[in-house]
Amino acid sequence: MIIEIERESHIPLYAQIVTQVRQMIVRGVLKVGDRLPANRELARVLGINRNTVMTAYEELTAEGLISSHVGRGTFISAVPIESKTQNVQERLHLSPMPWSALLTNQKRDTFLSAIGSSQKSKEIISLAYSLPQPDLFPLEEFRRCVNRVLKNRGRALMEAGLSGGFAPLQEYLTSRMALDGISVKPEEVIITNGCQQSLNLIRQILVSPGDEVAIENPTYPGAINVLCASNSRFISVPVGEDGIDLDVFEDILSQRRPKFIYTIPSFQNPTGLTMSIQARRRFIELAARYRVPIVEDDIYNELRFEGAPLPTLKALDEYGLVIYINSFSKIGFPGLRVGWIAAPRVVTDQLNMAKRNLDFHTSTLNQAAIYEFSRHGLLAKYIKRLKRAFADRRDCMLAALEKYFPEEATWTRPEGGMAIWVRLPQSLNSSQILLESAEKGVVFSPGEHFYSSLPQQNFMRLSFTTTGTASIEEAIKRLGAVIKGRLLSLKKQRGIRKGDGYAALV
Ligand SMILES: Cc1ncc(COP(=O)(O)O)c(C=O)c1O
Repeated sequence: MIIEIERESHIPLYAQIVTQVRQMIVRGVLKVGDRLPANRELARVLGINRNTVMTAYEELTAEGLISSHVGRGTFISAVPIESKTQNVQERLHLSPMPWSALLTNQKRDTFLSAIGSSQKSKEIISLAYSLPQPDLFPLEEFRRCVNRVLKNRGRALMEAGLSGGFAPLQEYLTSRMALDGISVKPEEVIITNGCQQSLNLIRQILVSPGDEVAIENPTYPGAINVLCASNSRFISVPVGEDGIDLDVFEDILSQRRPKFIYTIPSFQNPTGLTMSIQARRRFIELAARYRVPIVEDDIYNELRFEGAPLPTLKALDEYGLVIYINSFSKIGFPGLRVGWIAAPRVVTDQLNMAKRNLDFHTSTLNQAAIYEFSRHGLLAKYIKRLKRAFADRRDCMLAALEKYFPEEATWTRPEGGMAIWVRLPQSLNSSQILLESAEKGVVFSPGEHFYSSLPQQNFMRLSFTTTGTASIEEAIKRLGAVIKGRLLSLKKQRGIRKGDGYAALV
């Protein structure tokens, strides 16, 4: 065994020994069972301190490559993993693992991840995401809550919890929902990692292969991903001025029986529309008559800046047909991943089992911290602050749209929520506009991504919550210029084409 030591190298002497012994094993110069010189002997041969050799041997032992036996000496005990695979591949001439052929459901990443990376750039003004702005988080207050729960219940929080959730939070949510007319018991509430997980769990317990699920069109893309995956069947129900189009829905129900319908009745994503009380009552009656459960996503409802609050479908439901989902992502902390489902006991029993199989339970520390933050009124205070900021931003965006967008464009005026839905002239494609506007430093969500079928190209969702008013005004100004520019060049092209056609006719 020949080891060469470079005394001038910046690599420590013991590390040089480790690397060279490892390489000799990989190359087959040293084989399993071969004996290494005693550390005293090797130190003498190399002219180095014995401790250096001992450290090297300890490192090789920790890697599992050598082992020492009292009275017998130190032996090679294993081959590094990388050299094993190398040898096998050399022997069998294997090509790399064909992952693409093995993956069951390969999808291209959506536009959101592309926007996500540009969102991080400081120069880009993003209207793409409906999320609270991190600058508004009451971090100091939240930190105190985390410290308090760790101090008071730290050990219990580190233990495994229950799939239904942290009991004080379940109880708190039960009483909070009661204030909104939703009457459930704590055991009918299950804490999840947010609405996205709730949707996955609900699909798991209700949808079998071949079943159909009804969803609004357009709707939240995360729901499309879960409910309209390539091997599932779904029915798209159009959204009109008053939320989901109940005439169409009734027509559908007279012929087909979806396993459930997923709906966002308040400040719908992406349209910002809210169902009237009359529509809500009719919706419940229809669902009851045809015995179709409703999954009500209430994630934006708390963010109402004006107008009278409306009862949720769950509060109006006398038939036990609504599964209600909500989360802290929009009113609090999207990064903590805490949401909840309220449903009849027979349903939460199954959800509990599904949750256990998926990830046992949601982080107890996160639940306890949110509970602490909520029970001291800090969440309510924070929501108040959010609503004031969001109302200003919405007003600013509406005013800027009036000022900078072409008169052919129209948009919704939501009384709450996080976004405005803009309809452009039919001839425009908002995905193409995004490419151009991104170069001008503004991104948004093109409408087509919100459709499960018949995607409309001429809509855009503009979120007003992640940037301040000055940036919103600037963003709308730049977007307006891009859109007007496109309209102008389309008009010119049409003019030229008209001219050409006329000449040809003559
Ligand atoms: C309607 C709707 N539901 C659910 C979610 C995701 O919620 P969570 O963060 O709680 O998973 C979103 C996020 O944009 C949403 O718009």
